[in-house]
Amino acid sequence: MTTETNSFSLTSRKSHSLRGETTVPGDKSISHRALILGSLAVGPTRISGLLESADIHSTIGALKQFGAEIERHDDGYWSVHGVGTGGYADPADVIDCGNSGTSVRLLLGAMATTPVTTVFTGDHSLRGRPMRRVTEPLTAFGAQFSGRADGLLPITATGTADPVPVTYRLTTPSAQTASAILLAGLNAPGPTRVIESARTRDHTVRMLRAFGARLDVEECHDGRHLVVTGYAELQPQSIHVPGDPSAAAFLIAAALMTENSDICLRNVGINSTRTGFLTTVNEMGAKLRINETGKQGGEPIADIRVQHQPLRGIDVPPERAPSMIDEYPILAALAASAEGETVMHGIGELRVKESDRIDAMARGLESCGVSIRETENSLSVTGCGYDGVKGGGICETRLDHRIAMSFLCLGLAAHKPITIDDARPIDTSFPDFVELLSSLGGCLGDRDRERVTPA
Ligand code: S3P
Repeated sequence: MTTETNSFSLTSRKSHSLRGETTVPGDKSISHRALILGSLAVGPTRISGLLESADIHSTIGALKQFGAEIERHDDGYWSVHGVGTGGYADPADVIDCGNSGTSVRLLLGAMATTPVTTVFTGDHSLRGRPMRRVTEPLTAFGAQFSGRADGLLPITATGTADPVPVTYRLTTPSAQTASAILLAGLNAPGPTRVIESARTRDHTVRMLRAFGARLDVEECHDGRHLVVTGYAELQPQSIHVPGDPSAAAFLIAAALMTENSDICLRNVGINSTRTGFLTTVNEMGAKLRINETGKQGGEPIADIRVQHQPLRGIDVPPERAPSMIDEYPILAALAASAEGETVMHGIGELRVKESDRIDAMARGLESCGVSIRETENSLSVTGCGYDGVKGGGICETRLDHRIAMSFLCLGLAAHKPITIDDARPIDTSFPDFVELLSSLGGCLGDRDRERVTPA
């Protein structure tokens, strides 16, 4: 998960304002996919704007073990010399995906239809996350998986030399599962079909097409069919990764909550399968200025201007969950500072993310004096509104980057400082988060030494 061995706490405190203009790091989902598809093309793929975080390094490490050559060049771009579909070699060692669910689930798919064997493992968080959602459909191609009785990592995976194409209906709306099946279908004969009843992020579909695979999307009475035609020959590409809307959400929420704030975020991805958070804050009363500026890497991008604004609580409908699945922790923090109750429905999937995010947010918010109610698949937060969030809590991050960043954002607007017990997980997706927030005026520092970064 991280290069540091010892955990360290971090505190954020009431800040005067957040001001300035910045970019956010490259999109995590798109970065994983650019590397994986690059490894399955023949020849050099060039990637700029790649997210350079712990999760992405997990994918890079794994792909090198499968035989791809991956290098970072001086001007910050990355090259991937792919080995072609079906070209992966047997890894010489166990593949440790650290904290990254996207790495392990997509790579299980990418290797499932090639005759290689490897053991996948991960950190304590990843070893607790469900893998059957990918191993079950991949078994239908002919791949084999063995390991613990509960289906959790570590798993020994053996790809098949004689794959059959698969038709599979998703039982949980998961872009990772859909992507794993499409990647496996690349090296199976004929059409492989994924049927989804709820739309999930579509980066794999867009990028497979850009790499030259035949990928048809059919809107049918029983859902959306994503159909990849196998034995695809992928052509190397030049890709620029847009800014991550999930990373941007932390800065947007921080600026909305912190008085006198006025920030502008440049080149943020606004693919409609990822914009549920923007819709939600809009319904809460935020007036964001979203200026669409074009496309990067086949994805629409925009500059987003955010000013501080008092918000009101709303009901967030369950069907919105796939388009903002990673944004519920920061939404819960934002809801705490809004006026009235925010109810997030249909979010049971949050219980199996990097942590049980419903429980992690609920306990942390309570420690900051915020009232919550939770069920197995919902969370209600009673906002403190004009009175402001009391703060003063010490929040457990539980190896979860999004929990860590959510509480640091809340601390910028709370009466008393908020401390997270372990800041290391932030490296998972947003290594420069603390520096960037500080440069905009956020007061963040080490609680033990009472050192505060000046605004
Ligand atoms: C991701 C899909 C989502 C998301 C994760 C990244 C992806 O997971 O939570 O952070 O890149 O495909 P699920 O597919 O489990 O919903």
